[in-house]
Amino acid sequence: MKRKLRIGLFGFGCVGQGLSDILDRPESSLSIEKICVRNREKYRPLLNERLASSQEDILDDPDIDVIVELIDDHVAALDITRQALSRGKPVVSANKRMIAGNLDTLLDLQREQPHPFLYEAACCASIPIIRTLEHYYGPSEISGIEGIVNGTTNYILTRMVRNDLSFHDALKLAQSNGFAESDPSMDIEAFDAKFKLCLLATHAFGVVVPVDKVFNYGIGSISKKDIAWAHSSGCTVKLVARATRNGDQLSAAVLPQFVPPHHPLAGVENEYNGVLVHTPYSDAQFFHGRGAGGRPTASAAVADIAAAASRYRYGYDKVNALAKPDFTNDVFLRVYCRYGDTNIPRELPFDTVEQYFSDRQYNYITGRINLETLVSSEVVRNPDVFIAALPAA
Ligand code: HSE
Repeated sequence: MKRKLRIGLFGFGCVGQGLSDILDRPESSLSIEKICVRNREKYRPLLNERLASSQEDILDDPDIDVIVELIDDHVAALDITRQALSRGKPVVSANKRMIAGNLDTLLDLQREQPHPFLYEAACCASIPIIRTLEHYYGPSEISGIEGIVNGTTNYILTRMVRNDLSFHDALKLAQSNGFAESDPSMDIEAFDAKFKLCLLATHAFGVVVPVDKVFNYGIGSISKKDIAWAHSSGCTVKLVARATRNGDQLSAAVLPQFVPPHHPLAGVENEYNGVLVHTPYSDAQFFHGRGAGGRPTASAAVADIAAAASRYRYGYDKVNALAKPDFTNDVFLRVYCRYGDTNIPRELPFDTVEQYFSDRQYNYITGRINLETLVSSEVVRNPDVFIAALPAA
């Protein structure tokens, strides 16, 4: 009889528990043999004999076939990944922050040794988008990607509209459902979406995007007035991550977007994610599925574990290609900007202004602005300001 594939698991939070829900069944061909957690006392009654005594207890165990890294700490996650790969063990990770922030290092590591390092679970949970971008689409076959890639913020925006919940009540519900990061500002301020966008850009365009240069602007300052304004123009508010290729240039940003009703992303609700891949010759393909939560994310890790066991690796053909676009923030976008302090329009140089409205309680301006202006502006971080992209005119 074929022996079960033995997994050494790091982390037993929401996704780790989702993995054990899926795999701890007699008929499963994968078995979680050892689990390393930060707080052993907390998990001792639950995990008893499977609790690893240390990191090395797993990494040095010759009977462990695959390392699955599902911890929160991105620095420790990189260390585990390095050590595991250098000991000849395949690694499956869901740590978007660790991967997006260290892509060059991780690419080098993978060139140096032959063991699989897979991370489908780091991006859009149940949607198999990394492998699709990596293998289905060739170089230059993608002109742009746009997506809702964060389940927590999509859940909050949906519940604010559908159930008239306050932002904070909707966030609490997202947290209790296990959608949010342990530091929810990662979701709210669109860092999580930015990390995922960087991974998508690498596999779609072959570009290792500099994470700190990508504009991320979340929904922390959204008000019901902004949502009402979007509705009055027939749109719904979504947090959209977008990377667009224009010849030999690639731009990328995450910010709220007023999405018209006919757009596929308008129908993506709750913790679901949706990714549209735009192509020059076949219009667009739309991928949709659960984007957060223990089991949906763990299901992507299960697919990666099986793939790693068959020695599947990302080819990184687009990364290794000679012709790749250069990253730029020198592009224009149409935005809505609501603000309290009436000096704001002077501090935020618009290229062209389309609408300007001001009364005692509510001021807004719409128009065209350079993305670089938004990246370098302190003003947009003012809690009294809310910016959203508008559909192209
Ligand atoms: N906090 C993340 C989200 C979890 O809400 O999308 C899934 O990556």
